[in-house]
Amino acid sequence: MQHIVLTGDRPTGPLHLGHYFGSLANRVALQDTYPMYVLIADYQVITDRDRPGDIQRNVTGLLLDYLAVGLDPAKVTIFRHSAIPELNQLMLPFLSLVSVAELSRNPTVKDEITHSSQRAVNGLMFTYPVHQAADILFCKGTLVPVGRDQLPHVEMTRLVARRFNERYGEVFPEPEAMLSDGSLVKGLDGGKMSKSRGNAIPLSAGEDETAALIRKARTDSERLITFDEQARPEVANLLTLASLCLGRPPRELADEIGYGGAAALKRLVTDAVNDFLRPIRRRRRERTEEEVHAALAEGNRRARERAITTLDEVRAAMKF
Ligand code: TRP
Repeated sequence: MQHIVLTGDRPTGPLHLGHYFGSLANRVALQDTYPMYVLIADYQVITDRDRPGDIQRNVTGLLLDYLAVGLDPAKVTIFRHSAIPELNQLMLPFLSLVSVAELSRNPTVKDEITHSSQRAVNGLMFTYPVHQAADILFCKGTLVPVGRDQLPHVEMTRLVARRFNERYGEVFPEPEAMLSDGSLVKGLDGGKMSKSRGNAIPLSAGEDETAALIRKARTDSERLITFDEQARPEVANLLTLASLCLGRPPRELADEIGYGGAAALKRLVTDAVNDFLRPIRRRRRERTEEEVHAALAEGNRRARERAITTLDEVRAAMKF
């Protein structure tokens, strides 16, 4: 099957090791097989906050992270929402295809509302999954690599595609999700690795900063290091992290540390992470802002061309 791959991130802060092992490594592998689009979802940033924050800095940071891990702008179209008016315009007909009840049932949206505490919920919070359908359908994407929390949005996209085709004739494919295992690496406190929880190792962190983060990681007081995900989840998570960086089984690492305790474990993890990230961090430093912005400008241009064609097709199908 000749897939078209589309995926993306909200530019809300630096990417971390959870992103790397959960999705970035997979994207780098996919870029040689399929045409791929990677979206910097800047309009999605204002779903759960009042202001976009330092959006330009976050967009530049995201671009640097992408290029540093090995996404190749010659193969991958990297673009941002706000540069593609025709993508955004698809949201209008798409909104007419879904009911308010369907919008209110989305479990990921409900979850985000629960976590956004006292803030008044804005209209974009309920409708951004339809905007995300436009993200995926503007390029007729067929394969969407995402974490489990994004499944309701892929379902919404399938619904939009199906209803559009039923009403106006066959225009869109029904894309499928490609699930990544987001739980592979957890944060340094044992919870989900997340930039907002302060338990993440950013790809762009310095080596000393990385060491300090790992030094503070939660462990237990057992001297003998063993790999036991049930009984010792924090120790197991650190071993998993080192294992992914070193390409060696976690049990073998545990045996090697033996009675060294948490201190030896953390030393090993710190070296493994810093060694692993060194070439990525070097590539990140070598890129200039001009280079990354040139890559984005070219990606925006290609994505916009694609969006114009699709919007024309949509208008023709609707007889507008
Ligand atoms: N909602 C995704 C997130 O929060 C980001 C995103 C926006 C996305 N549009 C997309 C992911 C399209 C995949 C496909 O991480």
